[in-house]
Amino acid sequence: MLFDTHTHLNADQFETDCAEVIERAKQEGVSRMVVVGFDRPTITRAMEIIEEYPEIYASIGWHPVDAIDMTEGDLNWIASLTKHPKVVALGEMGLDYHWDKSPAEVQKVVFRKQIQLARKLDLPIIIHNREATNDVLAILEEEGARDVGGIMHCFSADWEAAKRTLDLGFYLSFGGPVTFKNANETREVAKNVPLDRLLIETDCPYLSPHPYRGKRNEPARVKLVAEQLAELHQLSLEELAEITMRNANQLFRI
Ligand code: NI
Repeated sequence: MLFDTHTHLNADQFETDCAEVIERAKQEGVSRMVVVGFDRPTITRAMEIIEEYPEIYASIGWHPVDAIDMTEGDLNWIASLTKHPKVVALGEMGLDYHWDKSPAEVQKVVFRKQIQLARKLDLPIIIHNREATNDVLAILEEEGARDVGGIMHCFSADWEAAKRTLDLGFYLSFGGPVTFKNANETREVAKNVPLDRLLIETDCPYLSPHPYRGKRNEPARVKLVAEQLAELHQLSLEELAEITMRNANQLFRI
């Protein structure tokens, strides 16, 4: 039984066949999933999905790329939705220096506000980091994110960053890129992450694992990620599935 800890089943790419995609996931043994909402439309859709599907939980937050659009009203709205028992985390939140829609300084303020909210609500957080590793880690350390814990999603930084993430008490989640042919460094990091801090995800519809790279991703393919991690840790797929399921349930308090 597999737990896909990061999906965007709320994305437009699944508008016409969401039910079929979820059914295929279940057939592949994906018995639990988290759908991540990161702005008004995707959060609204995530809340609908968790009402409809018992095996799907939600994480809601504000994406750093759109940080410049976030109002106090948006943050209050997110806080109010966390009363739903199937909202199990805040995020994705973080920093993204790849796109320049929102200036770094604005992103940092919005990131800090969401960590502070998570501490107030006592919810774990899901972190998006793109080309901003040192600033992300510094803010997590400064804001006391260790108190709530969380996930560094789709981890692809180096071992130094992995160590700091582990020191924060966070989990490292690996997705499709750990299966890519040129991802030897990421595989080396994944191999050294303690089993009790390891999670799996798809980030679907993005980042399809090998051999589907470039195609629309879906939760069923989290199995390919699990197989890769099982091989690295010299475990059976069943053992890896059980460990990552237990880790996710513990973090999300399911
Ligand atoms: Ni995502």
